[in-house]
Amino acid sequence: DIVFLNGKFIAADQATVSVFDRGFLFGDSVYEVIPFYQEVGFRLDEHLKRLQYSLQALRIELEFDWPSMLSELVSRNGGGSLSVYLQVTRGSAGKRSHHIESGLQPTIFACCQPIRDIYHEGADQVDGIKVIATADLRWHRCDIKATNLLPNILVLQQAKESGAQEALLLRDGVLSEGASCNFFIVEQGVIYTPPQGSGILSGTTRELILSLSDWHGIPRQETDITYERLIAADEVWISSSTRGVVPVLQVDEHCIGNGLKGALWKRMFELFTRYQHQ
Ligand code: PDD
Repeated sequence: DIVFLNGKFIAADQATVSVFDRGFLFGDSVYEVIPFYQEVGFRLDEHLKRLQYSLQALRIELEFDWPSMLSELVSRNGGGSLSVYLQVTRGSAGKRSHHIESGLQPTIFACCQPIRDIYHEGADQVDGIKVIATADLRWHRCDIKATNLLPNILVLQQAKESGAQEALLLRDGVLSEGASCNFFIVEQGVIYTPPQGSGILSGTTRELILSLSDWHGIPRQETDITYERLIAADEVWISSSTRGVVPVLQVDEHCIGNGLKGALWKRMFELFTRYQHQ
């Protein structure tokens, strides 16, 4: 495995970061996960825009040619279907201090791992999943893609222990998003998802679902969704870069719709497939 660290492409086991790096000490860092299919970044511009948004929110100033570094990393790792993990930390001041020193050099790290290209495999190869709903323990700036993922990891483990693959998060009586995904419900042919804001990450896959709906005349609306509405929905989906759009067949002990992958999900999956191949 070849990784990128601070200007160099090196073997993963040669890549080391200072123990005083603020990413390590404080989680003072942001990240992106970007799928590449046949060496082409999927929604690359949207990911890079969001990276810039996260960096700005942390007031990390950085100019960098992301596209050329990412394509070199992908090709050095053999191309194919890969997800690229990209992390930028505020860097190291050579000591531990909460105070942000000026003039720090950000740490830039990127690595790849193989992912499934479900849009080549087809809708039949996608398995519906089970999710749990549980309290959203995260902070109030979930719009920043920060690496502080302890609450996300803990609820995912809770899901796993309940035989589920994801956790949807409840805050103030409504669902925000998943531990590492956004979510949608379908009611009588209309797609609903929680509105953009500081309570959720503005997912690039979420954005694409909304755009595809608009382009193809499928009604959709951004609105708050309660637990009662979730479990009574005709369909529930989750979305993320690495998983695409995935049908949810069960929430806690409640079966969703008829317990099978929904008709509108299949349509959306086909729209994604066409979009990805164009
Ligand atoms: N997670 N919400 C959260 C909390 C996420 O962590 C993610 C993505 C999303 C979906 O965003 P997008 O569609 O742009 O991938 C929503 C990535 C994949 C991860 O942490 O691995």
